[in-house]
Amino acid sequence: MWQQYLIASLAVMAAVTGFTAAAVATVQLDQDTAAQLKNLQQTVESLGRQMMQQQTFVEERIRSDGMSGIKTLRHQSEGTRPYYGDHHIGGAALSAHDHADYDRTIGLGEFVAVMNGVDFRTRHNDYKFKMPSRTSKNFNSVEDVPFPEVPPAVKNKRTVQEQIDEMRLWFKAFKEQDYSVRDYRKYFKPNLCYLEGGWTLNSKTLDEPFESDRHHLDATSWFDLQEKIRWTSYAGSKSNLENFAFLPTVMYNITDGIPQYAQWNYRIVCHPLKQDVPTSYLKVQDDLSTRLRRKYRWDKMENQRAARFKINEFGTERNTQYTLMDSIMAEIPGKDNYGTNISDAAFGLMTYDISKTGYVPLNAGHYHRWYKVARAGAMGLQINHRGFRDENMWMAMTTQRNIMPLTVKRCQGRNCVWETRRVTYAIPLEMIYSTPLSNWNPYNLELKQESIVSRNGRSGGSQANKAFNGTSTRHFYRTPVEFYHGGTAERDAADTARNGAGVLDRKGEVKQCAPTGFRIMTPSIDGVGAVRLRYPIFPVHSEGSTVGMEIDALKRAVMQMSTYSYLYEEIPLGQPLPVDDDVTFHVRDSYRNPPGLHGHDFTITAAEHKAMLNGTELQVTTTYNLAHNHQLTIYYNKNNQRYLIRKCDDDTAACWDGHSSILTRVRV
Ligand SMILES: *[C@@H]1O[C@H](CO)[C@@H](O)[C@H](O)[C@H]1NC(C)=O
Ligand SMILES: *[C@@H]1O[C@H](CO)[C@@H](O)[C@H](O)[C@H]1NC(C)=O
Ligand SMILES: *[C@@H]1O[C@H](CO)[C@@H](O)[C@H](O)[C@H]1NC(C)=O
Ligand SMILES: *[C@@H]1O[C@H](CO)[C@@H](O)[C@H](O)[C@H]1NC(C)=O
Repeated sequence: MWQQYLIASLAVMAAVTGFTAAAVATVQLDQDTAAQLKNLQQTVESLGRQMMQQQTFVEERIRSDGMSGIKTLRHQSEGTRPYYGDHHIGGAALSAHDHADYDRTIGLGEFVAVMNGVDFRTRHNDYKFKMPSRTSKNFNSVEDVPFPEVPPAVKNKRTVQEQIDEMRLWFKAFKEQDYSVRDYRKYFKPNLCYLEGGWTLNSKTLDEPFESDRHHLDATSWFDLQEKIRWTSYAGSKSNLENFAFLPTVMYNITDGIPQYAQWNYRIVCHPLKQDVPTSYLKVQDDLSTRLRRKYRWDKMENQRAARFKINEFGTERNTQYTLMDSIMAEIPGKDNYGTNISDAAFGLMTYDISKTGYVPLNAGHYHRWYKVARAGAMGLQINHRGFRDENMWMAMTTQRNIMPLTVKRCQGRNCVWETRRVTYAIPLEMIYSTPLSNWNPYNLELKQESIVSRNGRSGGSQANKAFNGTSTRHFYRTPVEFYHGGTAERDAADTARNGAGVLDRKGEVKQCAPTGFRIMTPSIDGVGAVRLRYPIFPVHSEGSTVGMEIDALKRAVMQMSTYSYLYEEIPLGQPLPVDDDVTFHVRDSYRNPPGLHGHDFTITAAEHKAMLNGTELQVTTTYNLAHNHQLTIYYNKNNQRYLIRKCDDDTAACWDGHSSILTRVRV
């Protein structure tokens, strides 16, 4: 309904603004016409404001329906029950697939995502293994993510067979995460590939935001793309090459009757992590509908392409605040690229880094969710999360002129300040481990121009006249086939690479080589098995709704029936187990005013409690009450058997608002 209204008012606006410009230039208007024009201009302006309201309304509605995350893939299959259909998992999680014959192309299909209330649809992504530029501040400027080195222990072996044997042992060490003999951590590097979205100002010329070897937006302008999407949505058809995307437009301001538009755009880029991420932190998520449809057992799920993961560094399920994912995202810059440091001090209120004790200004130019502010006037700390309720909204500020600005005015008495913000959003998509294979070239094959390799009908056959003449970035066959032994475990129609191809070396001899590029799972390696290299860790939009939360709780209680039998209203069959209870504490009430009578609580896990009884100090954040939290360092005093506060907020022992340093354990 409102869209029709929108289109109609747009038409009026275009007509009027065009007309005014022409009219003012040529004729002197009589008073009546002038008054009428002014009237029209005001009407257009108020219609424009209403349109902006409608857009905000739609976004707010989506924001409260679920969190930033993936909604769905393109429909490919269905069945006699709803769970036979596709959602965020189809043939594979997020329709991930391999293009292992390309050196740095990562296969990923089309999907619908929500970021901060913006619902959009991508083209077939097939993104490249690139990162934001470390040297250029230019908009969307990227560079290749460096590939890991080959371990000297492999390179120094004399024969190809010896190199193969040694390389297998490095893969084995990585798979078993055993760095005692072969420290794989220097050669198997975790990279976070993430989806970044934002409102851009180049709303006329179509702007391909990220490179793909295989796909590009099939349109000449944003308008052309919108027309094509409208047509395919109306007629139910499809770009057979999957090269259309639905990227919405907003009117974000109106100045003197002239509307200003912004265009939503997104890209997928990667960031090589500074820290190692043990694969044991990547926990399979139970997408039960997928398991039921395919009859996948739980213990086999991890090796399926349908598996979706989440980072959990705690080894248990629990409440969290600043997590490993936050420290990873904090390494990633927004649109200002690496090397930026932007402080966020809206209206004189500085935001601080929640991961640090005391008050260290937050680098808001990098992606973050949590921040803290010290309230002006009164002391006291407030811990906040970006957005109203969106666990997955990582945000970064930017100074890029190509990102939509929003400005707001705040007055204190007659003192007015303007604040302008430009931001982009990001969510994690997948953790990809790069391996020494990319740089390993035991046959010393030459990297050539694309056109030379397959010239004269060379198609990778094993005869000298059919073998590829060297390798190229799109014919990246460099790994001796003997490295794997045996075929690929699971195959997908979108996989373009074969098990192996003939390649001419520098002497013109044919070598059988396997494709070397990125894969979800490697083919089975002799003595090692298949090794997972891509871990999809995208969040799911609907999991952020009340229904999503309840279903997840129910799934957990049903799947681990004996552990959670204490939850049941009636005891199911089987022996109930003792509960590993959390321990809750109360920070004793303070009567000081301001801020007024209040106390706080916090909860720790049974394991943390055990460690505390043993002399370990813990860092906790209290509940939010009377507009503040406390960050506490707490310990247990064995002599008087008391739980005590060692530090409260900014390194001082006593809390600013006079809480007792003695904590009360709450029995529930
Ligand atoms: C939006 O328009 C108003 C005038 O209507 C102007 O004062 C303001 O600076 C504009 N904001 C931005 C971000 O361009
Ligand atoms: C960023 O700038 C702030 C304020 O100038 C400074 O306190 C902080 O240490 C800087 N952060 C980094 C990571 O350089
Ligand atoms: C292979 O390519 C090289 C150029 O890189 C060319 O000189 C050579 O003749 C080609 N070999 C064959 C057998 O076509
Ligand atoms: C507590 O400390 C003792 C002695 O150092 C140790 O044997 C025990 O395993 C510890 N228990 C826990 C829960 O850490």
